[in-house]
Amino acid sequence: MNNKMINELLSQMTLEEKASLCSGKDAWHTQEIARLAVPSSRLSDGPHGLRKTVAGTEDNLGLVESIEAVCFPAGCATAASFNRELLVKMGEVIGNECQAEEVDIILGPAVNIKRSPLCGRNFEYYSEDPLLATEMAGALIQGVQSQNIGTSIKHFLANNQETRRMTVSAEVDERALREIYLAAFEGAVKKAKPWTVMCSYNRINGTYAAENHLFLTKILREEWGFDGYVMSDWGAVNDRPADLAAGLELEMPSSYGINDALIVKAVQEGRLNEADVDEACRRVLEIVGRCQENRDRSAVFDREKDHAAAKEIAYETIVLLKNDQILPLKETDKIAMIGHYAMAPRYQGGGSSHINSHKVASVLEALKDKPMISFARGYDDRQETIDEALLAEALQAAKAAEVAVFFAGLPDHYESEGYDREHMRLPAVQNEMIEKIAAVQPNIVVVLHNGSPVEMPWIDKVKGLLETYLSGEAVGEACADLLFGKVSPSARLPETFPLRLEDNPSYLNFPGDKERVVYQEGIFVGYRYYDKKKLPVLFPFGYGLSYTEFQYANLKLSADAAKDTDVIQVSVDVTNTGRMKGKEVVQLYVAKPVSAVNRPEQELRDFTKIELAPGETRTVSFELSKRAFAYWDVNQHDWCVEAGEYEIRIGKSSRDMVATGKIKLSPEKGQKVVYHMNSTLGDMMRDERAKPYLQELLKDNTLAGTTDLSEAGAKEHQDIASAMLNDLPVRALISFGGGKKTFAELQEILDQINHPS
Ligand code: BGC
Repeated sequence: MNNKMINELLSQMTLEEKASLCSGKDAWHTQEIARLAVPSSRLSDGPHGLRKTVAGTEDNLGLVESIEAVCFPAGCATAASFNRELLVKMGEVIGNECQAEEVDIILGPAVNIKRSPLCGRNFEYYSEDPLLATEMAGALIQGVQSQNIGTSIKHFLANNQETRRMTVSAEVDERALREIYLAAFEGAVKKAKPWTVMCSYNRINGTYAAENHLFLTKILREEWGFDGYVMSDWGAVNDRPADLAAGLELEMPSSYGINDALIVKAVQEGRLNEADVDEACRRVLEIVGRCQENRDRSAVFDREKDHAAAKEIAYETIVLLKNDQILPLKETDKIAMIGHYAMAPRYQGGGSSHINSHKVASVLEALKDKPMISFARGYDDRQETIDEALLAEALQAAKAAEVAVFFAGLPDHYESEGYDREHMRLPAVQNEMIEKIAAVQPNIVVVLHNGSPVEMPWIDKVKGLLETYLSGEAVGEACADLLFGKVSPSARLPETFPLRLEDNPSYLNFPGDKERVVYQEGIFVGYRYYDKKKLPVLFPFGYGLSYTEFQYANLKLSADAAKDTDVIQVSVDVTNTGRMKGKEVVQLYVAKPVSAVNRPEQELRDFTKIELAPGETRTVSFELSKRAFAYWDVNQHDWCVEAGEYEIRIGKSSRDMVATGKIKLSPEKGQKVVYHMNSTLGDMMRDERAKPYLQELLKDNTLAGTTDLSEAGAKEHQDIASAMLNDLPVRALISFGGGKKTFAELQEILDQINHPS
């Protein structure tokens, strides 16, 4: 539908019809206007598969059966792949499924930052790091939209918990919003151009996301250039006319005419501009038209083929976290598979993303042809305490084997949309079982199934650990191939696993009180906090092992010094020095060791994944531009680069740097600080532009004399005087200046600094 057609339609629509276009027809469709041949489009949940509800169901919580589909690894797991191409591929497959099922827009990806390990929906989200989150989301969007199916990146913004998600106010400072929470959306919105964005339920700094003009219009549209439509999360509308004016085009689900009438009334009473309603309709129509024009009637949903794709993806979503020379297992080993999840894996979370999987492969089924494998259920995942009979059977199996593989994880009701976790522990029964099995069988490997970190009190007693996250319906097959070394693990943790929940930076402020949750930790989320505090962690961000080994050499930077507007090329050689083909994630962090700004120890600024045969070397290249070095300056309300030396660190995780290069940057524009009566002398001293004027400011000043080292007495007196001088605002030179300078004279000097002739 081009502009002309849309204008034509708008000119023929009544105000009531226009208002009706701004809300859903029902739970899953946009409104049609038959009289003008405006079609409806079909929305459907995802994002790790298709949750197309059966006609007539209003369910948005995954409680009612949807069509049989393929469950791909959830966001927590796909982020662990650190593989953009893989996510593009997954998006293509899901996009094709949508075409075949006549779904126009799939509701995802969900990109909210993992502020606390307890967020019930962490399994759907990608990372604690905004770059990783936004790159993964962008890749999925690119894949889905390449099939001419729309996406809805969600939940915009600061929806980082389930507790009171529909009303709580996330109190987040400007820098944390920009560097962490907005950044998780920004890259994907700018680069991958989602057709729609879903605003969240919560308030941000007091204002509902649905009526937050700053985020929906100023930042999303005006700064980032978003040109699709914003829809509400299901039931997120607060005050329909106000929401529309703020930039929320589509209310979902339908309000059955009630809110549409409020729009009409607001226009009639002059509280809402009809032009805003027209604009909202224009955006909805543009996408509705795009959906209709791009329907591919030849698409086929081949569930078996897509299951195979889900398995390929799962190979890269399972993280090897510990391996004391026990993995891969040998075909000839006598192995006891123990645990409920060996026969019935936990592979997805609960809520609106829940897929009705057409088939699920357990590890036991995948290994059914291997004669050396025994099985004991060990525990019932609905029970919290040990079942003596199941325990006895498990211990016997473990003793009789050469290796025990224990399948642990979080039961369904532990993590879901709608509520947060209460603690970070596995069910006590599983922790106890691991200890008891380790006591009779030292060769024990644990395979975990969980959407978010868990504490591991038994970590020193096990020899191997595989974190499968929630890796979709093919997890059992993928896991079997990884356990037996058919494929080398290549996933990395997209989040820190803290030793204890209490170590997490949000611990004192999660989930907040009745009204608000204060993001007190600011930008120090995840590894930005743990690394800065030098806290020991269970497993750091970016960590993961392989069956082969990689070595790094020849880190090169295109310059030693540059302007912040230059693009810096970085390259490093990576060699597979092991004996197996494998994939390596090359992580690039930027650090500013000496900084006047409170910054993280280092921040992930790029990453890539490569596959290398044994002995093969490849040169990996990155390009860094201004944003990689910048922080958000709350005074200038802009991205700023401090002058000085930066480190480019290549890491295997945020705690394991393997090569470091240095570069000096100077800001192209410089940070033009305007000096005034309350500027401090210390700040002026550190600025080359202001420094030459200090002598003039301090001339004849009594205080300045007290810092003269040759004359002053005790060291502490000098320290006090120079500290005082450092923090002294210009205006105080009146009080401490012995009456030698007037305000007018001080202002004249300030004017000279600010506007040199
Ligand atoms: C969830 C969204 C979901 C929507 C529709 C809401 O409760 O927060 O993520 O897309 O329902 O099911």
